[in-house]
Amino acid sequence: EEIGQRASTGALPGWDQVDVLVDDAYRFALRGTGGAVADYIPALAQADPDLFGVAVAQVDGGLHAVGDVDVAFSIQSISKAFVYALVCQNFGHEQVMARIGVNNTGLAFDSVIAIELNDGHPMNPMVNAGAIAATALMPGSTPGERWEAIQTGLSAFAGRALALDDEVYRSETATNQRNRAIARLLESYRRIDTDPLDAVDVYTRQCSLLVTAKDLAVMAATLADGGVNPVTGRRVVSATVCRDTLAVLATSGLYERSGEWLFDIGLPGKSGVAGGIMAVSPGKAGIGTYAPRLDPAGNSVRGQLATAHLSRALGLNIF
Ligand code: DON
Repeated sequence: EEIGQRASTGALPGWDQVDVLVDDAYRFALRGTGGAVADYIPALAQADPDLFGVAVAQVDGGLHAVGDVDVAFSIQSISKAFVYALVCQNFGHEQVMARIGVNNTGLAFDSVIAIELNDGHPMNPMVNAGAIAATALMPGSTPGERWEAIQTGLSAFAGRALALDDEVYRSETATNQRNRAIARLLESYRRIDTDPLDAVDVYTRQCSLLVTAKDLAVMAATLADGGVNPVTGRRVVSATVCRDTLAVLATSGLYERSGEWLFDIGLPGKSGVAGGIMAVSPGKAGIGTYAPRLDPAGNSVRGQLATAHLSRALGLNIF
């Protein structure tokens, strides 16, 4: 059934009420039985398609969680949002806009033709081209230092030390010819300063970091909280960087489906092919979901349904 938007502004409902609504969203989204687990990265094909968890982290530090919220899975493309934030923190608004861009490609996340159509410009940091270019801009004089800065930075967003899934990393490394081609193409247009294959390797590692739906909720809540992790109380990035990151998530977080997502759900969000989605409700909360079955654009079917339900029930749509 269609639920009406509760209110577009104002505070979240009371604690018990949010608990009930998170539960409702979980049950509502169980009706999403379509979609398929990603298999272009062989290790991802082994995921249990029926796993499903929904978590909401409030900016006051409170957490609501239902289902498989402690199951770890690889963060995949959701890492792009946080690496971008870390790069913005180091490079600043103008530089990052010029070098990586903020506009949707209208094409798939691994599109090569999008690069060709735009004079080699990666267009935005959420597609693979822009994400690899962003990873190459991370501070550090070696790939090892850049990887360490990413692992430490994403762990600060989560409020705990995030570990690498070695099997996913090796599986993707063996099958990421397309990303290597994208990086070489960027190199040919002089859009990447470091060794392109080193950048792809660090990017592949960042995509293989293990998170849970709870982690995604806290990471999203850090962006909702102007850059302060609401659980640890630690500032990770500035409020300005959060604003820049959320703007890009709004235009490109769900790839070529970003318009539909914004139209239906009205929140900046980011998906990953392992089945995670995070959504950010500025000043209020972060939402993290995990459900491995994906639609054709690579976005979790149940994650989208649960987030849509929560956006309406909690009055989160920013418009
Ligand atoms: O580069 C890739 O293809 C993966 N490591 C990440 C892609 C991804 O998560 C797209 N998301 N929906």
